[in-house]
Amino acid sequence: MRKKVAIIGAGHVGESTAMYLAEKNICDIVLVDIIEDMPKGKALDLAQAGPIRNYDVSILGSNNFADIKGCDLVVVTSGVARKPGMTREDLSKTNAAIIENVSNEIKKNSPNAMVLMVANPLDIMTYHCWKKLGVDSKLIFGQAGVLDSVRFRTFVGWELGVSAKDVQAMVLGGHGDTMVPLPRYTTVGGVPITELIAPDRIKAISDRTRNGGGEIVKLLKSGSAYYAPAAATVDMVDAVINDHKRIMPCSAYLTGQYGINGLYIGVPVVLGGGGIEKIIELKLDKDELAAIQASAKTYKDMLSEIGY
Ligand code: LAC
Repeated sequence: MRKKVAIIGAGHVGESTAMYLAEKNICDIVLVDIIEDMPKGKALDLAQAGPIRNYDVSILGSNNFADIKGCDLVVVTSGVARKPGMTREDLSKTNAAIIENVSNEIKKNSPNAMVLMVANPLDIMTYHCWKKLGVDSKLIFGQAGVLDSVRFRTFVGWELGVSAKDVQAMVLGGHGDTMVPLPRYTTVGGVPITELIAPDRIKAISDRTRNGGGEIVKLLKSGSAYYAPAAATVDMVDAVINDHKRIMPCSAYLTGQYGINGLYIGVPVVLGGGGIEKIIELKLDKDELAAIQASAKTYKDMLSEIGY
């Protein structure tokens, strides 16, 4: 039996996730949205691309959460995207209500599924979903570090005029302005970028990474990025579905690691068939540790804004 993955929310991120995931040909896909018939249309369209794009997994579009029954993994992309003039608190409250509803549906229809959260504010929504589901925190995790790292990798590749495929990067902390790119742990063909790029350029690249989502929101005028977020999401789905045990930065629940307790935030983990199989504690220097702890503090405050 093929594994089954549901994608909740068939907006740009959800549909792009479905497309990239279909092309991996690794699991059946259920695309769910509350907008009448829309996910059915997208699923039909995607299925009809299959013979040319070389996939034959089942792709079901649905308005009914009952169709997520028996899923191994549920990817949650539903929620509103950032718009100009909207405060972070507004986004947090609007999406918290949506995520609460989605979490209840997951609990009712597919209680054994792992959950990969993609909705923003990412680390807050991951925590919220975990609280609502009340399951082991290893099974609930968030996508963000892979996206932030792939942006960093892209910029480093451009800076050096080399393929970004050969750049490995680590961006930790929350998925927001306080994220922490780690140049010492970012390498090109195994060489740390601190040996290859001048400090002022590393700073510029790190700043651009931190504002990477905002840069795209500004260019699109309405809505936010979706190709790279979807690609990052599918990389994580693949790691879980195929039990790859990849080392990836993910939003994971911390219980004292990095001096942070009781919070979801981006850290390197081993991601495999069991979800977050291990949290990796890097030896950070004083400034790096302070940066990740400062990032954690802002998320602790945001959690209290939605009643935690
Ligand atoms: C971004 C949003 C989608 O970083 O979180 O592009």
